[in-house]
Amino acid sequence: MSTAQEALKKQAAEAALKYIQPNTVVGVGTGSTVNYFIDALATIKHDIEAAVSSSEASTARLIAHGIEVIELNNCVDLPVYVDGADELDQHLRMVKGGGGALTREKIIAAVAQQFVCIADQSKLVGRLGQFPVPVEVIPMARSYVAREIVKLGGDPVWRQGFVTDNGNIILDIHNFDILDPVQLELQLNNIVGVVSNGLFAKRGANIAIIAGSDGLQILE
Ligand code: A5P
Repeated sequence: MSTAQEALKKQAAEAALKYIQPNTVVGVGTGSTVNYFIDALATIKHDIEAAVSSSEASTARLIAHGIEVIELNNCVDLPVYVDGADELDQHLRMVKGGGGALTREKIIAAVAQQFVCIADQSKLVGRLGQFPVPVEVIPMARSYVAREIVKLGGDPVWRQGFVTDNGNIILDIHNFDILDPVQLELQLNNIVGVVSNGLFAKRGANIAIIAGSDGLQILE
């Protein structure tokens, strides 16, 4: 990862502070871009109520900054969720889960009123699918789910040695021809043994902050 790209991630992450409302709980995603957001959030930690977190890694970073992390079940109102993406299209549909936290990310995104996606310009694509779509699977269903995914036209690859925060495995699906991301998201969810998948199309982002060499671009 180049220093220039890291600087763009940091710019996008810091720009997301503008969407945080005082005295509210903040939804926090996972990944290297979100790490910059957590660092920025620490500068206004006395103005927010707490955070809900999508992964053990983000929780550890939030706590290290002295930001209280609460259970999503104890959170009645979540105005904003901030997270990165592996791919994002012009309709603000995303592929996520490169870091394996897709299920908790999707749950928090479902609860939040607003999803703010932060990314450097390399994540913005014309069509989703170059990045393999991660699918979280109950371990005993791995082979069955892989066979069903082949029937949908994808090439599943088991992310060996990786276990999600929920104790499950990940299949990364290569070579999907994604004409209709919403339909594919639903089809993947319908396979027995699938916990969730990394297509965030039915509930995409509301706002995307894209940092590029020409400055920040806001999509909504
Ligand atoms: C984590 O599971 C992912 O969904 C990340 O949000 C996504 O992979 C973006 O990560 P980076 O900011 O590290 O590229």
